[in-house]
Amino acid sequence: MTTADQNFLRPWQDVTSIGEFDWTSLANSEGVFVQDTAGNELLDGPGGMWCVNVGYGREEIIEAVARQMRDLSYFSPWSMAAPVTTKLSEKLADLAPGDLNNVFFTTGGSTAVDSALRFAFFYNNCLGRPEKKHIISRVNAYHGSTYLSSSCSGKMREKANMDMIADTIHLLPCPKPKDKPADLSMDAFCDEKVSDLENKILEIGADKVAAFIAEPIMASGGVIVPPDGYHKRCHEVCRKHDVLFIADEVVTAFGRLGHFFASEDVFDVVPDMITTAKGLTSGYVPMGALFISDRLVEEIKSASNEARNFVSGFTYSGHPVAAAAALANIEIIERDRLLENVQQLAPDFEASLQSLNDIPCVTDIRVKGLMAGVECELDEDHPDEMRDVEFLYKVDEICQQNGLLVRPVYNSCVMSPPLTISRSQIDDLVGILRGGIETAYNNL
Ligand SMILES: Cc1ncc(COP(=O)(O)O)c(C=O)c1O
Repeated sequence: MTTADQNFLRPWQDVTSIGEFDWTSLANSEGVFVQDTAGNELLDGPGGMWCVNVGYGREEIIEAVARQMRDLSYFSPWSMAAPVTTKLSEKLADLAPGDLNNVFFTTGGSTAVDSALRFAFFYNNCLGRPEKKHIISRVNAYHGSTYLSSSCSGKMREKANMDMIADTIHLLPCPKPKDKPADLSMDAFCDEKVSDLENKILEIGADKVAAFIAEPIMASGGVIVPPDGYHKRCHEVCRKHDVLFIADEVVTAFGRLGHFFASEDVFDVVPDMITTAKGLTSGYVPMGALFISDRLVEEIKSASNEARNFVSGFTYSGHPVAAAAALANIEIIERDRLLENVQQLAPDFEASLQSLNDIPCVTDIRVKGLMAGVECELDEDHPDEMRDVEFLYKVDEICQQNGLLVRPVYNSCVMSPPLTISRSQIDDLVGILRGGIETAYNNL
């Protein structure tokens, strides 16, 4: 069942086509499945938008939200406290790595990133170095849709017709192992990508660079897993040059890689700030959270005896209903041992997806935890991205007819199913995906 919305301008939509496109209309959901308005059941490969971590239809979250709405539907975070938000901030500080004990609530991922960057500027102003404002990011990164976070995003084709901050934001080449020259070892490739960061800091001048921002794994960029050791070494470079390291864990936090946070447990890095959203509430209601290290707060304190107001925040910062959803969501992750489930399933998920390697147009398969990108190119020697995008639309259409949502990103099918997925559902997912790619390829 589809709907041609006349009045709903969607994210990324071609504005010349409002009302012309038929969108699959969803009516119900349960577990790892959504159901369209005609009753067709679809396994949710992308997990909503990388966010439905505990799966759909969780009564505990629904009840917690309803209860909180009855008890206290809103409080002003400027002047009041609410037990539910206090409890959530304590729980989050407890779960976060290292000294990331200061939780700044936001409305989603973009506002978490925006707030992190604004905090980096604020921090440097407080320390008396107002010229330290440049930000370094990477090609293929996605950090959000506010002016500042979108300017730090590196998906170049998405910048057309959209104004961006250009003079103080710098994009490094993407650390995508597939793009490594054949005669270069992975270690040498990693050296090169780490040097890109250090060289850029030196070129701009370390006294002018505020922060390096990086997703542990680039999600919307196609699930790009950097070479081993990359993040740890980038973090060392940042420390050496007094540049803040911001980990954008909007996708990777809350279980996607088998841990509450991926930075320390997977990549051995304790960042200066971490941004989160999505899996924090599993998409039941909007909420994001920025984690700021004690070190930064202490440095601001010791720089002066004056008050230092971080003049930033939202009407819905720490919204009690969202906080109730987040607490219930975290309780489910802990009670149902979902992190352990991801750790146990990850090798099967990877092996199963890697089996698609025998399909001629599949040119790269990248998997980590329950995140995967299956890249398809019809002619690797003569790249034509639009042709490959069209091809993946076909794959998506066929998979949907067979009960799987794919929703490709450019030339990659990206998968991030609910963390509750079972082994047999992984087999179903990969089986339908194989059928979709092979059928589309054979029909060319
Ligand atoms: C890594 C990353 N950062 C930030 C964002 C922006 O989050 P939101 O859409 O909640 O504003 C996204 C969204 O996909 C993301 O993947």
